[in-house]
Amino acid sequence: MCGIVGYIGTKKASPILINGLLRLEYRGYDSAGISTIEKEGLSMMKDKGRVKNLYHLEGIDNLEGTIGIAHTRWATHGKPAKENSHPHMDNSKTFSVVHNGIIENYHELRKFLTEHGYTFYSQTDTEVVPNLIHYYYNQDTNHDEMKFLRATKNACNDLKGSFALEIICKDYPDHMIVIRKDSPLVIGKGEGENYICSDIPAILSFTREFYLLEDFEFVVLARDDAKFYDKDLNPINKKTQTIEWNASSAEKDGYEDYMLKEIYEQPTAIRETIGAKLNEGTKCEFEELNYSKDYLKGLNKIYLVACGTAMHAGLAGKNILERLCKIPTEVDIASEFRYRNPIIDDKTLCIFISQSGETADTIAALKLSREKGAKTLAITNVIGSSITREADNSIYTHAGPEIAVASTKAYTSQVILLAILGIYFAETLEISENEVAALKQDMATLPSKIEETLKCAKTVKEFGKRIYQEKDVFFLGRGIDETVARESALKLKEISYIHADSYPAGELKHGPIALIENDITVISIMTDSKLVEKTVSNIQEVITRGAKTLVVTNQKVDDKMFDTVIHIPETNPFIAPILSVIPLQLLSYYISKEKGLDVDKPRNLAKSVTVE
Ligand code: AGP
Repeated sequence: MCGIVGYIGTKKASPILINGLLRLEYRGYDSAGISTIEKEGLSMMKDKGRVKNLYHLEGIDNLEGTIGIAHTRWATHGKPAKENSHPHMDNSKTFSVVHNGIIENYHELRKFLTEHGYTFYSQTDTEVVPNLIHYYYNQDTNHDEMKFLRATKNACNDLKGSFALEIICKDYPDHMIVIRKDSPLVIGKGEGENYICSDIPAILSFTREFYLLEDFEFVVLARDDAKFYDKDLNPINKKTQTIEWNASSAEKDGYEDYMLKEIYEQPTAIRETIGAKLNEGTKCEFEELNYSKDYLKGLNKIYLVACGTAMHAGLAGKNILERLCKIPTEVDIASEFRYRNPIIDDKTLCIFISQSGETADTIAALKLSREKGAKTLAITNVIGSSITREADNSIYTHAGPEIAVASTKAYTSQVILLAILGIYFAETLEISENEVAALKQDMATLPSKIEETLKCAKTVKEFGKRIYQEKDVFFLGRGIDETVARESALKLKEISYIHADSYPAGELKHGPIALIENDITVISIMTDSKLVEKTVSNIQEVITRGAKTLVVTNQKVDDKMFDTVIHIPETNPFIAPILSVIPLQLLSYYISKEKGLDVDKPRNLAKSVTVE
């Protein structure tokens, strides 16, 4: 999705802006651009293609301005092309704007502005914004220091949809205005300078002090000042928050790719997410939550709502919440949930899982649940992300920044946090004492078991070399292993472009077995002692039809039956996905590398999907 960077200070802005955009490349984009305030007015340099192409644009080295805005675009309205790239200026070149989000009523606004003499040069929804600001600016006869802000506010009042905007104006060479609504944007406070970005990692190397904005708050930034206003332009006070991530955690640290680094960071991510929550002899506490026994007892249902990998973590969560806490739990895909009129009331708890905290469908589902009277809880990795501002309560995975588009450490951290939440619920409800005690014990040894599991990399790589040219791969599992099959198939699809499908192993003979032919690859996960025999007999059915098989298991199986077996450590079934997914994350990674693909930035995908 689109990325935004901005700078106002005393240094030359253009290298800072381009550097920030490079750090946002992982979000997925098709064009890039910057705009600065120069002595002679506003500059604008943009083109389709990679951020580094900006270095080749004529005049880019001559930019001296110390205020600038920058953008990577992921096309929604209008094809990837120079004219559709951001920034966009108004016709008189007074304002330059970058925008994330979607202006839903841009047709209407374009018509209005065209009737008032404005011309449009792009197919984007964004181009209405600088022209609308200019329209209001021209109408205003007061030439005071608030004129730029008033025009911006009047224009924003007319916008429907979602937007994070950075605006510079040639008449106000020492100021920049930013505003957000339903689209991420934060301000990093430096010494005599301010940084703006849609994603904290882009500016972590400059500052750890951030202002987090609420919807419809306007900010007028100067070099050593930031003034905040509400939607009616009443001044408001805002304090910075310190973000604990360090810049090197957003770098590759010697790994070839972010995805590989993030796979290997899982022991740390799990340790950090467990933190001090599971002390022996004391009950699990979440200082952010105060659900009483009566409230939990009175719940008619828990919904776990999310997209993609986060939804797969929700499937593991359902298993935990139903079995350990005895609360009926449903898992829903956020983009479906919001349109299926789910049955929700004040006895429903809706939990939203999102690594980025910015996924538009998940946030919309949260808003719907709140309107219907449910309590809402967000599980996210990003402090201050949009979802945390919408939810009644938020709890955090401590996975550190996840840069690769393919989610790995976020998934395993979400599963562990859901397990901790399950323990908290069960202890509050005073049920499942023995299961809780066993789970707590198994959690304590989990990080070292992840380290142990990671040792399978060599075997996995070899298997990857055998199958990287395949067209179809099938993943099978039963019970909790079926949820890992789904996640593993998604991972393979997104970074290797191999068609991958997952099925409950028992479902095979109800249709999918028709697709099994000689030499096709079938991968199965077997971590449940009660189900292993049944899965083995399903795999026998595909072996008979000529399939090659990879098995990931913590059970005793007859290794000779299968082509390759990856043995992983045994652990509590509730958290088994955290170990069994690892060889299959690695498999996707190595297949993608073998095919020479861009592992961290797969085609057509964006790290956080901030539009519907
Ligand atoms: C995971 O590999 C995917 N790239 C994707 O499915 C992702 O999990 C999904 O878009 C949800 O993102 P979120 O956790 O940031 O809400």
